[in-house]
Amino acid sequence: MSIKIAFTGTGYIARIHARAAQALAGVELVAVVNHRPDSMRDFAQAFGIKRQYATLEALLSDGDVDAVSINTPNYLHAPQTIAALEAGVHVMVEKPMAMNAQEAQQMFTASEKSGARLLVAHCWRFDEEVQWLKEKIERIGPIIRTKSYGVHVNWGPGGWFTQKEFAGGGALADMGIHALDTVRYLLGDPQPESVYARIGAYYQASDVDDTGVIIVNWQGGATSYVESGWWQPHSDGPEAGAQLYGKSGFASLFPTYLSLPDRRTGEVETIDPGFPHPRAEHCPQAMYDRQMAYFIRCICDERTPVPGGGEGLLNMKILDAAYESAKAPIAPGGNVVAI
Ligand SMILES: NC(=O)c1ccc[n+]([C@@H]2O[C@H](COP(=O)([O-])OP(=O)(O)OC[C@H]3O[C@@H](n4cnc5c(N)ncnc54)[C@H](O)[C@@H]3O)[C@@H](O)[C@H]2O)c1
Repeated sequence: MSIKIAFTGTGYIARIHARAAQALAGVELVAVVNHRPDSMRDFAQAFGIKRQYATLEALLSDGDVDAVSINTPNYLHAPQTIAALEAGVHVMVEKPMAMNAQEAQQMFTASEKSGARLLVAHCWRFDEEVQWLKEKIERIGPIIRTKSYGVHVNWGPGGWFTQKEFAGGGALADMGIHALDTVRYLLGDPQPESVYARIGAYYQASDVDDTGVIIVNWQGGATSYVESGWWQPHSDGPEAGAQLYGKSGFASLFPTYLSLPDRRTGEVETIDPGFPHPRAEHCPQAMYDRQMAYFIRCICDERTPVPGGGEGLLNMKILDAAYESAKAPIAPGGNVVAI
């Protein structure tokens, strides 16, 4: 079976996904969509793509495409995803899934009505160190609390990322969502019960956030503390990491290991898989290669991808609740937003 794939957007992440698709047998890179002809031509040349379109609608009306990888600014995720799904075209859409939960709900509904698949690119689920932890995580269970972060130190993006009308949110929507989704995945995708957050812009003049602290209470009793940031003066390690505290032990992501204390003897067993720390590249191509291979497998096997519309929507609900919580002034007993 051969899958014909197209790309919307020709920026940073589109190139990574195009490389991933190019490396897969049975996948043909057939089209690219961008309103900027120069950028589109360069991209098409780099990946041997023949068809170029100024709009997704023009591509969809031409047809002869099975799947699309959506790599545009966040405000275009919902309209492009829904248009493709309604045309029966499979979609892999970048995170954050949408500008807000309302849009994400519309995308999820469109995916349920369509015969086509929807994958929301919460890429850390495809990282080899996250997957190693996922296999072993039961050994520290049940998990009581997690700490995770996604931050840029002395750096932050510019352009549309910092404009609310194009991005929806700032560092929380860009970086915090990775830290949130990674622990939710490791916790076994529990449902959230409530959120408390403090979010603001302190390091840049912008209408989106550059600093966030979020506490999520999950059904089943675990609590997650998530930090997001751009332009931060410090980070606890590389640009992202997580710690999980269970009744039977501790798990760390970046550096990645398990620590299993024996309360009777006081001895601690460390299970270290030997991944280099820090690793050469924080966001390696291999992670995106696995994600693309999984997307294509889901199409061929007619399976619903996970992370799909449901996971993406739930993350957007948590983000919406966090922004709502942060709007309210600090008040005793207040600011906790139920989901
Ligand atoms: N998962 C990850 O690791 C990761 C990393 C970076 C970015 N992202 C996400 O990917 C998306 C894109 O980010 P980026 O860093 O590649 O941004 P970018 O600014 O480098 O690229 C955006 C692209 O969209 C194009 N574009 C704008 N309007 C368009 C339109 N109407 N039709 C078609 N193309 C249009 C731009 O010309 C540009 O080529 C964002 O949602 C971002 O959050 C994810």
